[in-house]
Amino acid sequence: MRSSLPRAALFLLLAGVVVNVGPANASQFERVAPVTHAPTQKECGECHMAFQPGLLPAASWNRVMDGLSDHFGEKASLPADSAAAIRAYLTQNAGGGDGRLIRITEQDWWRRKHRLDPAVWQRKTVGAKSNCEACHRDAGKGLYEDE
Ligand code: HEC
Ligand code: HEC
Repeated sequence: MRSSLPRAALFLLLAGVVVNVGPANASQFERVAPVTHAPTQKECGECHMAFQPGLLPAASWNRVMDGLSDHFGEKASLPADSAAAIRAYLTQNAGGGDGRLIRITEQDWWRRKHRLDPAVWQRKTVGAKSNCEACHRDAGKGLYEDE
């Protein structure tokens, strides 16, 4: 059937377009607004880079803030007033994504962007997926463009 060929091509084209559209396409994430809230920078930048609020949706930030007493096995509890201020800053400046997931590195858009050789994550200089700065030198400023 001759007509099936162009039809298949059109389907692939549309599928490609659909994949590139969506709340978290590439260009939206090349630059993420940097952290401008001093308490967040300080308290959430102690053990890892202070992740920019735009990297997670508000529901995820609420989950993170609800679970600080057991934060990935660490105790990251804060006095109530600073926790409230940090929560407000993160949720008011939140981005999009799946609010059921508390990890940036489990969000669909993040996984799509990081289909790297699994061995990469084992390198001593990387250590963990969450170690953004190992690969994005200026991640602390919200810059993630390809270098
Ligand atoms: C006592 C150390 C500590 C402090 C303080 C801390 N974290 Fe974490 N955080 C961790 C550890 C450990 C992990 C898990 C790292 C991993 O598994 O790669 C983590 C992971 C995360 C992740 C998930 C990263 C990913 O894999 O996508 C988010 C989001 C996060 N922290 C947010 C925060 C926020 C917000 C604050 C401030 C309220 C904070 N953290 C303070 C230790 C800390
Ligand atoms: C092992 C190295 C590595 C680590 C660690 C890493 N990334 Fe990436 N990241 C990459 C590479 C390589 C690309 C480019 C992928 C592409 O262009 O298809 C990328 C792409 C991105 C992009 C898209 C940039 C654009 O041009 O659209 C964002 C945003 C991003 N990373 C954020 C993060 C965040 C946030 C973290 C930490 C939670 C992180 N990355 C950890 C290697 C890494």
